[in-house]
Amino acid sequence: MNKEKVLVTSALPYANGQIHLGHLSGAYLPADIYVRYKRLKGDDVVYICGSDEHGVPITITADKEGVSPQAIIDRYHNQNKAAFEKFGMSFDIYSRTSIPEHHKTAQEFFLSFYNQGLLKEKKTMQFFDPEANKFLPDRYVEGTCPSCGYEEARSDECEKCGAIYEPTELVNPKSKISGGTPELRETSHWFFPLGHFQERLENYINEYSKKYGWKDNVLNYCRGWFKEGLNDRAVTRDLDWGVKVPLDDSDGKVLYVWFEAVLGYISATKKLFEEKGEPEKWREYWQSDDAKYIAFIGKDNIVFHTIIFPAMLMAWNDGNDDKYLLPQNVPANEFLNFEGKKFSKSRGWGINVNEFLRLYPADLLRYTLAANLPENKDTDFYWKEFQMRTNGDLAGVVGNFVNRTFTFAHKHFEGKVPPLADLGEIDKQMLAAIEQTPEKIAKLIETYKIKDAVFEIMTFARSCNKYFNDSEPWKSVKTDKEKCGTTINVALQAIYTLAEVFSPVIPFTSEKIFKMLNAEITDWFESGKPQLPENHQLNKAEILFAKIEDSEIEAQINKLSAVETEEKYDVPLITFEEFMKTDLRTAEIVSAEKIKKSKKLLKLQVDLGFEKRQVVAGIAEHYQPEELPGKKIILVANLKPAKLMGVESQGMILAVEDKEGKLSVVEMDKSISTGLKVR
Ligand code: 2FM
Ligand code: ZN
Repeated sequence: MNKEKVLVTSALPYANGQIHLGHLSGAYLPADIYVRYKRLKGDDVVYICGSDEHGVPITITADKEGVSPQAIIDRYHNQNKAAFEKFGMSFDIYSRTSIPEHHKTAQEFFLSFYNQGLLKEKKTMQFFDPEANKFLPDRYVEGTCPSCGYEEARSDECEKCGAIYEPTELVNPKSKISGGTPELRETSHWFFPLGHFQERLENYINEYSKKYGWKDNVLNYCRGWFKEGLNDRAVTRDLDWGVKVPLDDSDGKVLYVWFEAVLGYISATKKLFEEKGEPEKWREYWQSDDAKYIAFIGKDNIVFHTIIFPAMLMAWNDGNDDKYLLPQNVPANEFLNFEGKKFSKSRGWGINVNEFLRLYPADLLRYTLAANLPENKDTDFYWKEFQMRTNGDLAGVVGNFVNRTFTFAHKHFEGKVPPLADLGEIDKQMLAAIEQTPEKIAKLIETYKIKDAVFEIMTFARSCNKYFNDSEPWKSVKTDKEKCGTTINVALQAIYTLAEVFSPVIPFTSEKIFKMLNAEITDWFESGKPQLPENHQLNKAEILFAKIEDSEIEAQINKLSAVETEEKYDVPLITFEEFMKTDLRTAEIVSAEKIKKSKKLLKLQVDLGFEKRQVVAGIAEHYQPEELPGKKIILVANLKPAKLMGVESQGMILAVEDKEGKLSVVEMDKSISTGLKVR
């Protein structure tokens, strides 16, 4: 097997919120599985990630909370780094774009383009908030979409209908800083001529996609962009948070976040090797022909990784002696939804990774997500499916097979690998399956079919379990101990292979199994050959997976119904105890009269049976005073007394309001006694 040099990156998440399960399914878990597999087959991999720490969403969050952008990025960088670690992401470095190395790299790229005469300076009209004395780039302005009328459209792009327009076309623009109407002011920006590179980009994508098998979703997206034609793109912004434009007289201007974030992959690799004391070694991965570069992302980042970043690398290569590789493949995933809807932090829909991992071990989540990756279409995370995959596949198949085999080995063979005696047909078949499995899985992972690979691994685990069943060692142990020993030997070899091919997906469990086997993990392709010698001493078995109870899953689903109910009725939910604080009582209206100078209010005397109350009610436009006496109504009896138009009110009567605004008092049957509690 040829050993490859592979550079792998996963999209740098914004340090502006906590990562959730959707992020994991898009750009992180598939990449981690790929990388772990590559390392096991002996390839020389560096795996790069980090936080994207510039851009308007970060400064908006900072403004909202009244803290500095630095405080925001520190918080989320640390939280996301911890979440990734707990989830078992095996990055070689989790860097950040606020480090000096990154600013330097980004400025070098800008200056190289500038010095080659590529960048054009253009004057444009930009929104400006006079109150805040600031320009308002990107998401700092919201307004009504000129195309579909969506009221929360961004200044240059509508999330709802996908329209792209000039900020000047936005209807009813509002500043997100002051809420006021921004004015348009002239400012100048630097533009990168993306159009210059269109032909080369098309050739690059045609060639690489054919040679390396790009995914259809990625290709369709690129073709759409080419068809529209590539235009100049502004690469600077009027902001004070970001990488400063490295030119004199550029005060208050920074590089556009996307123009520098992609370079974060390069600066992170530099940082990694600088920390290792080999500061030039990053070039072996980025700039040598015997390396390949794979960029894992979610579908919302396609254009930046297949068009903008490659164009920037081409532009660098045109003007410099050191030449970068272009991404060999960009296996972008579609989105993962949560129980049928988009993840939404503001609506409380979904669960973030830190929260999830406080409830369940990482491998359970890794397996469920990996088995259901949105490789070709959007998929959903369902709690019920999580339970089913954990209890059925992991505990029921994998855990059960490992546990049964170990129990036999310890009970009947002193915890040692028994010798192989004569092989029956069924044993030969199992050994053949063991031998073929690593190769089969490798082919799928090499072509980024991670979901299919996971399916094949589980199919192999099922066949192991079936082998155990069909061999009936509980019978042979009494009649033919040698045959029983053969079964257990083969089953243990199968466990070894299973632990190896499953290790990229469920690394924590795999490690446990190797400890139980008292063996080291080996080269991927070696793992298809029997690895455990006769008489090899095993360690004690551990429980690999705990089953998830129905009640745990129901509790999670109940939380979601609460979110849905709140959304449907647009009111916050209250607990039973909170409701019970309201003392609702049946009462009878004794008399009613108008209040001087008030069109709306009536003064009522009501009888609770145990006491009388005076209540001021806003129903004068809907009832004549003489209609009311004798009605049995419901009174909020523990409302704090208040004065309305100078008249004391000691409670409130319940009424309903219809669409036209007409109020009707809630009436009880006359036979109902007064003073009863309503609940
Ligand atoms: O979509 C995002 O979360 C971006 N922060 C991804 C950036 S990927 C790369 F450019 F760094
Ligand atoms: Zn729109």
